[in-house]
Amino acid sequence: MTVQSDWRKDFPIIENSDIAYLDTASSAQKSLCVIEAFKDLYETEYANIHRGLYRFSQNTTQAYEAVRQKVKDFINAPHVDEVVFTRNTTEAINLVASSWGKNNLQTGDEIILTQMEHHANIVPWQLLAKEIGFIIKVIPVLDDATLDYDALPALLSEKTKFVGLVYISNATGVVNDVKRVIKEAKAFNNDIVTLIDGTQAVVHNSVDVSALGCEFFTFTGHKIYGPNGIGILWGRGALLDEMTPYQGGGDMIETVSFKSSTTFKTAPAKFEAGTPAIAEVIALGVAIDYMTRIGFDAIMSHENELLNCLRDKINNISGLKVLGDVKNKASIVSFTAEWAHTSDIAMILNQCDVAVRTGHHCCMPLMEHFNIDGTIRASLGLYNNKADIDKLVIGLNKAKEMLS
Ligand code: ALA
Repeated sequence: MTVQSDWRKDFPIIENSDIAYLDTASSAQKSLCVIEAFKDLYETEYANIHRGLYRFSQNTTQAYEAVRQKVKDFINAPHVDEVVFTRNTTEAINLVASSWGKNNLQTGDEIILTQMEHHANIVPWQLLAKEIGFIIKVIPVLDDATLDYDALPALLSEKTKFVGLVYISNATGVVNDVKRVIKEAKAFNNDIVTLIDGTQAVVHNSVDVSALGCEFFTFTGHKIYGPNGIGILWGRGALLDEMTPYQGGGDMIETVSFKSSTTFKTAPAKFEAGTPAIAEVIALGVAIDYMTRIGFDAIMSHENELLNCLRDKINNISGLKVLGDVKNKASIVSFTAEWAHTSDIAMILNQCDVAVRTGHHCCMPLMEHFNIDGTIRASLGLYNNKADIDKLVIGLNKAKEMLS
């Protein structure tokens, strides 16, 4: 199949600039339908939700709640009430750490993370560990930047209460066999609670949380061509029911009183204090519709063709070394150069109108493991084509000429 690049025209910023945008893993560009969703809402019938008996409020509430159903379908969650709107993945994981972790982890307990986690799935647990005194164990990575699955059995113990891991590494694109990890943890002790950071997974693959067998799954809107400021926590109903609210405020309560105790709504409302990101939620629904219309078969076929081309070209430039150059990976290629520092190369790439991310990609423990301070990361999205890759290659060759 040839690379289909019709989707480019759906993204005004891509159409209107000369930049080869290869930083989708950081934040995806927005399609016109997503941009127009904001304009439509604010120009036609915007109002706060869950609070007004007038038409604008009722219709906006309906549009907002309809997105919960879209998210449920998008990740095949069992129940719509298990979908919680948060600000982003980071907030979703902080919510789990605060509302589940604080009440369920004790001094001496153990949790397991991986060496390749994004800081969003490390730091909330470290903050809590400092407070409570539980131990964080880490599944190591192998030389090819894949998980060392064989290390898991020795890490599991009677004290293990939680296992959290990323589905697709944002730093390398390596796809983890999360099902295997969940299955092994559950076989050891079915009470172990598991969380999957699905931030990159929902960009590249269809996800089925029911089939994964985890308790929590998180992702963010801005990586799936949707808006910033809106993320998703999916959690099993029984756990969400037991969890205490993350933040207190308007719209999450049943009654508030200075005389008797304040009572809360059930999930998901009890986790959505205050006026939420209304337009962002509605625009996220539009982004999900957009991706669903295209379909993951087409997305994967397009991205895999580009990924193969990108890998080949990077591997053909001498002195570049790809981190996580394995078969099972998403369209993210991370590499270092033996002839120059990554930041110097990125500056030259910028002069060549090529946008990539350099640095630790919020995965400092992974970089520490490989004894590097960062990589250059080129990540591909729907709007990329082979000309973008050619532009990167021209930029890299120029950088090599100038810096080596
Ligand atoms: N976590 C984002 C990235 O991978 C910001 O670049």
